[in-house]
Amino acid sequence: MTANENRAEFGSTLGFILSAAGSAVGLGNIWKFPGKAYACGGGAFLIVYLIMVALIGTSVMMAEFTIGRKTHKGAVGALKELNSKFAWIGGLGVLTGFIIICYYCQVGGWAMYYVVSYITDVQTVWADPMAYFLGMLGSNGLPVAALVWALVFLFLTAFIISHGTAGIEKMSTILMPVLFLLLIGLMIRSCTLPGADEGLKYMLHVDWSTINGTAILTALGQAFFSLSLGMGVMITYASYLSKDDNLVSNTGIICVLDTLVALFAGFMIIPAVFATGIAPGMGGAFGFATLAGVFMAIPGGQFIGMLFYFLLFFAAITSSTSILEGCTAYLVEEKGFERKKALVGLSIVIAIIGTLYTLSQVYMNIKGIWISRSGLEFPIFGDFLEYLTDRLLLPLGAFFTTFFVGWIWGPDKSITEATSDGKYKFALAKPYAFLVKYVDPIAIGAIIVAGMVFGMNIS
Ligand code: PFF
Repeated sequence: MTANENRAEFGSTLGFILSAAGSAVGLGNIWKFPGKAYACGGGAFLIVYLIMVALIGTSVMMAEFTIGRKTHKGAVGALKELNSKFAWIGGLGVLTGFIIICYYCQVGGWAMYYVVSYITDVQTVWADPMAYFLGMLGSNGLPVAALVWALVFLFLTAFIISHGTAGIEKMSTILMPVLFLLLIGLMIRSCTLPGADEGLKYMLHVDWSTINGTAILTALGQAFFSLSLGMGVMITYASYLSKDDNLVSNTGIICVLDTLVALFAGFMIIPAVFATGIAPGMGGAFGFATLAGVFMAIPGGQFIGMLFYFLLFFAAITSSTSILEGCTAYLVEEKGFERKKALVGLSIVIAIIGTLYTLSQVYMNIKGIWISRSGLEFPIFGDFLEYLTDRLLLPLGAFFTTFFVGWIWGPDKSITEATSDGKYKFALAKPYAFLVKYVDPIAIGAIIVAGMVFGMNIS
């Protein structure tokens, strides 16, 4: 392990795998993925998503890991060291991470709010799950509770990384397996609810007519978001590894774990949507309002619901810390800030933009005030942030990263790093070189352009 006073470091390979998997497994899997799978047609979207992860996701992750471990630097410093003309690719990643963390902390706060709601006020949640969700977002006044919990979540994120990742590693070792088991249990319960078979059919029926440019771009953006790619976080994480760590197997394990969690969440939530008849709504109501139907239907549902939101919170915080770590590492290493000061400054700006995100949910969407005043039909601020990151900035970051590895640094050097100078086997080295050099930049570039040309409408 490289020791550096200003940077967090991993204690073991398992710690790295769990922390990187912790970064990957988050709100993206449980809160975003089911909604996208539903909106983009179910089965066919799942296939497109799996192809995106298997071909593009794994190779971009490997590219990021090799850059990070080769240089032992954060995203900007790493690219600068390999070729100073390309440091801006790392900078783009830091900017993307900064935008994501602004809304990520808000949704993390919603998860905390639901933990408390399930402990203290579960009957109100269950009486009308959608009204409760919208109420949290401010349909009956200012969303004070949501905003306060978001601040608590942000504070916890900043507090944890001000103390390094050791605590996260320890927590991950226990809680990641619990999250996994709980998701499997809930998935089985959800799939066996009366009426759930329609949802299962929806998820397993492959109708290719649902796949258009938007669906493909959604799958790609979701894959990058879910695997924490395209913004240099995995570069930063791998920079804390030594040559003893096997990047090939780590990449495989992390991609498989992340994808399994997304699939479990999809098969937990979509059948529940059909069984409960709670229409999927705005602002990611899937993970909040819809699931109430499952918890209501099982013995001990209050306790299990509370546990679920606690684990959602946990999945979110192991991701939010990784994003904030990426932004902080940049300010500390490249701009010479003291770590604590960088964290405080970042947190204040994140709190302000994040507050606007939550307020936009209610004022622009539920009440339509800002929309009607401006007279324009534009996506609400929160959706806009997501378009910008998932549809544009993350794919762009991944595009430039693979272009850099494929054409500037060279796939051979990346492969040498991946195998720790030949110590480990990399059976798919040749396909990797081909992917990173040709397939990734061309496919990602084409999808970005298609997304721009065919418009940014989402379902
Ligand atoms: N992968 C995380 C999720 O699925 O929730 C979110 C995320 C973390 C995105 C870290 C990007 C990142 F760099």
